[in-house]
Amino acid sequence: MAEFRLPRNSTWTDGKTHKAPDGASKVKSFRVYRYDPDSGDNPTIDTFEVDLGKCGPMVLDALIKIKNETDASLTFRRSCREGICGSCAMNIDGTNTLACLKPIDEVKGDIKIFPLPHMAVVKDLVPDLTHMYEQLASIKPWMRNDTPTSPDKERLQSPEERAELDGLYECILCFCCQTSCPSYWWNSDRYLGPAVLLQAYRWLADSRDEATGERLDELEDPFKLYRCHTIMNCAKACPKHLNPAKAIAETKKMMVERQG
Ligand code: SF4
Ligand code: SF4
Ligand code: FES
Repeated sequence: MAEFRLPRNSTWTDGKTHKAPDGASKVKSFRVYRYDPDSGDNPTIDTFEVDLGKCGPMVLDALIKIKNETDASLTFRRSCREGICGSCAMNIDGTNTLACLKPIDEVKGDIKIFPLPHMAVVKDLVPDLTHMYEQLASIKPWMRNDTPTSPDKERLQSPEERAELDGLYECILCFCCQTSCPSYWWNSDRYLGPAVLLQAYRWLADSRDEATGERLDELEDPFKLYRCHTIMNCAKACPKHLNPAKAIAETKKMMVERQG
């Protein structure tokens, strides 16, 4: 079994430099974290010079160009390339964000690209999300409702009830917030973290869900919920402009209110 590495805690050295092709009109250097668990070597930072004259505008466009034309072994996740699937989350120029929504020309100088911080790395820019998905499954992120559905109509909500889900349903589970949260860095074994807690509140706020009491019982724990110290890194990091800290605060308020 290959050993995983934490990018922030491991050491790396400069790796290969891939020069731009002759005649390139507008060259930008992308400095990219590389780690191959099968090699047994420490991570490196490889430099790829890209001709922006022949590249799309986003950082993901450059990564795809590098993979297609320079180094097919460069490994990263992506799917939708329009900020919907959440799979291209990575740390670009020191900030967690989506590569497909990050314009290249927003970054002055070389563009440094790392995997999401404080995560075990599977390969290159691919973090191991297994633990986060287990945490997500633990909050049962689906509607819990024992009332049978009517055969001829949906479970209805008023416009006001539906509006309660605004700012929550848009979450694409990219984990940019989760991996920017200092409390999560230090307590990820027990603290659920902002992405998972926003999902938990998404179901607490849903008028059609009948498991509010159970959901709150399941969160009543010194670590799962209460490690949030309102540092707000999560809201700053969210590429969808959501506010997980507010969802966490609302959940804490529900806890207090039910105690009467
Ligand atoms: S507000 Fe809470 S969840 Fe958000 S970054 Fe701070 S500690 Fe983490
Ligand atoms: S709240 Fe924002 S940053 Fe966090 S997982 Fe959802 S979309 Fe990503
Ligand atoms: S590729 Fe889907 S969010 Fe970036």
